[in-house]
Amino acid sequence: MPIALITGASKGFGRAVTHALAERGWTMIVDARGAGELRSATQGLADLTAIAGDVANPDHRSRLAQAVAGGGRLDLLINNASTLGVSPLPQLADYPLGELRTVFETNVIAPLALIQLLAEPLTDAGGTIVNVSSDAAVEAYPGWGGYGSAKAALDQLTNVLGAEEPRLRCYAFDPGDMRTEMHQLAFPGEDISDRPEPQTVVPALLRLLDTRPPSGRYRAADLALSEVTR
Ligand SMILES: NC(=O)c1ccc[n+]([C@@H]2O[C@H](COP(=O)([O-])OP(=O)(O)OC[C@H]3O[C@@H](n4cnc5c(N)ncnc54)[C@H](OP(=O)(O)O)[C@@H]3O)[C@@H](O)[C@H]2O)c1
Repeated sequence: MPIALITGASKGFGRAVTHALAERGWTMIVDARGAGELRSATQGLADLTAIAGDVANPDHRSRLAQAVAGGGRLDLLINNASTLGVSPLPQLADYPLGELRTVFETNVIAPLALIQLLAEPLTDAGGTIVNVSSDAAVEAYPGWGGYGSAKAALDQLTNVLGAEEPRLRCYAFDPGDMRTEMHQLAFPGEDISDRPEPQTVVPALLRLLDTRPPSGRYRAADLALSEVTR
């Protein structure tokens, strides 16, 4: 059975993807910072190793890599864990630079660090990297400059990685709006009940994994609507 490492599996989109891959019989290694929530989110799932920790912490990333080494192979890495940064979202002119560093550590450096640590087993398996992106990477939404610029960096990192590693598939996956804790943080006090649940986006990701189009940036909305032709 294929093996995946999914970060940020205790809530939102990561949790939905983890449950979908479990239904397909995947073996998984997953994380999130909150140990209790991670345990309850993954309770009852077979062939799953849950390791609580922060992706921005090098020791935690080493523990994830050790777990992968124990499994002997890696077919899929989903860099899903991410931080929005400061909420309410500040204008760039006011963005606290220390907070911005944390956003880049979590959303850019940590995904690349995991890719570097896991490059060998991923390449040996002819595997897939999914870096979860955002429309904020490409749209100039006021207030979204910190998070959006980090996701833009993640996109370009994915883009170059795809050119450098022809044996891998490297995807930046833009899920679109989802009704999650992170989305609520972006719109504090607002009713976000019109946003789709994260599990409704999972079929688009599964389609990407199943069809394995060339490396690149893919939007869930496009994957859901049309044949993958890139
Ligand atoms: N929701 C949207 O509308 C939307 C739109 C575009 C893109 N996205 C992207 O979709 C992905 C999933 O977001 P979501 O909305 O599902 O978020 P979410 O519901 O807030 O879930 C985030 C998950 O990541 C974990 N996490 C956060 N920081 C972490 C860290 N430093 N180390 C390890 N785990 C961490 C969280 O658990 P802990 O807090 O316990 O660590 C949780 O399991 C993110 O990459 C996000 O940028 C979301």
